[in-house]
Amino acid sequence: MDLSGLDTPAGLVDVSRMHANLERVGSYCREHGLSWRPHVKTHKTPELGAAQIAAGARGLSVATPREAEVMAGITNDLLFAYPPVGRAKLDRLVALPESLELTVGLDSLEALRALGSRAAEEGRELGVLVEIDVGLHRVGVPTPDEALGLAREAGRLDGTIYRGVMLYPGHIRSSVEDQGPALQGVSRYLEQVLDVLGSADLTPEVVSGGSTPTLFRSHEVAGLTEVRAGMCIFNDRAIAAIGACRWEDCAYTVLATVVSTACPGQAVVDAGSKALAREELRAPGGGYGVLLDRPAVTVKALSEEHGILDLSETDWRPRVGDRVRVIPNHVCASVNLQERLYGVSGGEVGDVWEVAARGRKRFGIQ
Ligand SMILES: Cc1ncc(COP(=O)(O)O)c(C=O)c1O
Repeated sequence: MDLSGLDTPAGLVDVSRMHANLERVGSYCREHGLSWRPHVKTHKTPELGAAQIAAGARGLSVATPREAEVMAGITNDLLFAYPPVGRAKLDRLVALPESLELTVGLDSLEALRALGSRAAEEGRELGVLVEIDVGLHRVGVPTPDEALGLAREAGRLDGTIYRGVMLYPGHIRSSVEDQGPALQGVSRYLEQVLDVLGSADLTPEVVSGGSTPTLFRSHEVAGLTEVRAGMCIFNDRAIAAIGACRWEDCAYTVLATVVSTACPGQAVVDAGSKALAREELRAPGGGYGVLLDRPAVTVKALSEEHGILDLSETDWRPRVGDRVRVIPNHVCASVNLQERLYGVSGGEVGDVWEVAARGRKRFGIQ
């Protein structure tokens, strides 16, 4: 089917760009001796998780029980990179296949003890990574001593095995060339944590970190053993804006149709906040997305089903019925709004993938 046969809005994946992105990350990780465990929140699609494994990923990272249930079908090595608090989540984790090597990241004794006892009830042992805060101030223990306390307890409990530490440098969103001092800060703090753990004979086997903005500088963080960067499969406007990818590495767009040109100076497309997501650009530029082939045209405003294109910086005057491809500010939030993704090669739709790990329901239960 060619693209004109698709109804809009539709999430498109440029398959050759996606494979080139995966290849680039895989070879960077090989070159620097880092394992790669991409976070699947970006695509939530089993076929694309499988493409990451084929490109060299050692396993996958997930944030929700449903992502874990879906991805357990394509890898036997998963990191649940989110504190699993509450009985419902624990029940779903321990119900994952026994053959799965499951590791869980967490930052509290409450979460750790509940996980240990639920796993022990099922006769299971789950790996634990102690999450440390390296500057985002979201989750993660704030001191090396607290990391040590959790590591000790994880090693002591029935039901858990201490495997190492996890960090997420999500506070580093400056342009790639300016990231040096912040990465050195992460490195210095991690070194302190590793020293404290090492002196207690709890040297981590895994030190899991990485993000897409900092991906290709991950080797500068001393002690890291794996990276979880997820957005790098597609990239987006924010990632291109900080120089962490080139414009031509953006593999995901939303195909949209011009539905109105009635208001002078603008055109309206059928991709609004329910297709692009209302995500601010955390870099200069403004708006909610930009056209793939006309970077001077931004989506300046959104209603739920309307995207307003700003034509003030272009001579281009689209007609009703014309089609455009929009690169969103934040790819993960846009993909999460699509039921399926269309893999496009040479203007033809070659693949249709269900975004099967969206939502909260238990996988397999309708
Ligand atoms: C805990 C965790 N790990 C890994 C990632 C992946 O990083 P990125 O989105 O920069 O690719 C995220 C992203 O939010 C995350 O929250």
